[in-house]
Amino acid sequence: MSTIDLQSLIPNNVHLGENRQLQRALEHWQPAFLNWWDEMGPSDFKAREVYLRTAVGVDAQGWASYGYTPMPDYRWGIFLADKEEGRKIGFGDHMGEDVWQDVPGEYRSTFRRLIVTQGDTEPASVEQQRLLGHTAPSLYDLRNLFQVNVEEGRHLWAMVYLLHAHFGRDGREEAEELLMRHSGDADKPRILGTFNEPMDNWLSFFMFTYFTDRDGKFQLKSFAESAFDPLARTTRFMLTEEAHHMFVGETGVGRVIKRTLEVMKELDTDDVATLRAAGVIDLPTVQKFMNFWFTSSLDLFGSEASSNAANYFSNGIKGRPDEAKFADHVERDTGMTIQVPDAKDGVVGGVKAETVSVRNGMNEITRLEYVKDCNIGVTRWNMGIKRAGIDFELKLPSTRFRRQVGVWANIPTDPTGQPIAQAEFDAKKDDWLPTPADIAFVKSLMQRVTEPGRMAGWIAPPDRGINANPVEYEYVKL
Ligand SMILES: [Fe+2]
Ligand SMILES: [Fe+2]
Repeated sequence: MSTIDLQSLIPNNVHLGENRQLQRALEHWQPAFLNWWDEMGPSDFKAREVYLRTAVGVDAQGWASYGYTPMPDYRWGIFLADKEEGRKIGFGDHMGEDVWQDVPGEYRSTFRRLIVTQGDTEPASVEQQRLLGHTAPSLYDLRNLFQVNVEEGRHLWAMVYLLHAHFGRDGREEAEELLMRHSGDADKPRILGTFNEPMDNWLSFFMFTYFTDRDGKFQLKSFAESAFDPLARTTRFMLTEEAHHMFVGETGVGRVIKRTLEVMKELDTDDVATLRAAGVIDLPTVQKFMNFWFTSSLDLFGSEASSNAANYFSNGIKGRPDEAKFADHVERDTGMTIQVPDAKDGVVGGVKAETVSVRNGMNEITRLEYVKDCNIGVTRWNMGIKRAGIDFELKLPSTRFRRQVGVWANIPTDPTGQPIAQAEFDAKKDDWLPTPADIAFVKSLMQRVTEPGRMAGWIAPPDRGINANPVEYEYVKL
């Protein structure tokens, strides 16, 4: 097991104290990070005591401690999962060779780009969510928001550690840049589209933590297979924290639905206007928000056929999530089918199958695993709807719907993935995606509730509190 140093300026289990140069470089970056947190992190809650979980080690039994802390005093640390002695590369052309403790020169720029792209998403989401605290539906939810925020901050630390430790001067420059780009900034936006979307209501927050943090889970799972061992170990530990983010999303959406069902039964109606007047979010609107955030997150996996993805796999840079469960870890001459648009001369066409090499299809393989995982929560939400005796089913749209990246980019389809004319899409899109009026309605419900245990009218209380505390616990001392 690794030694944990919780006393030094930067808590860590990477023997930072033995590498003065690296320690100094990171201690130099730390004030810049705190400054960024101060300017771009959760607004206006700096002095408040929040009941937070802090990573203090990587032991499955006791990796975290809980307690009140003001967020700027959070102990952001660097923790890598324990080293697996004798670990071998598990896929690609280097299969069976020893894993790398440092980055091979020929893959240096690729690793750097991937680590920067992953690192960029972490502070981006904190920036997107910075105003949500003002409209939290309960202290419980406020605390969960801040928990997610501080952990995304720690994930940034995880990537910045790799940049500093393995990429020299370039890495240090990239680490600075990670604090300069900002979500939605016209001049210096964050790298990926989803992370520049505005986040001004809690339904979007729950959808984001369910769908977009889950994209994060699959990226981290792919990196957890990497031949570059420090990357594999750091992402393996990040996944431990990530699970809570998706829990916040799944239970958040579930509680919104639960509350709506209660009012639907009380008033014996499914009329949208009546339900909205009663202050709950109608199920068709939940479906529209789901369509938006799910499809936006699908784009994050990249193109269906991608030579970059093939190179990452061949070279041992990035595997498939849970690589061990696949039969063939080399995929030298294997093929797979993907679905592509079948249109000629701008006429609305259908869907046809195309064969690509499995190596080229890595993004699509990962995306389809992601879709399966997304469906688990949707099934649970639908069970709640069915139990309430309501005839309504939430459904994930097709992976061909509303795509902006890949072979289906900008090809109008209906939510089942059937290609349609642009005019038809335009005529129907208000039934499929949140309209400005839908968003304005959801925003109108966002009123802050600060009494311990109380919930806003549009969301049901959670089944239980955090770390065996009651729901009524004072999770944030305002
Ligand atoms: Fe993260
Ligand atoms: Fe996350």
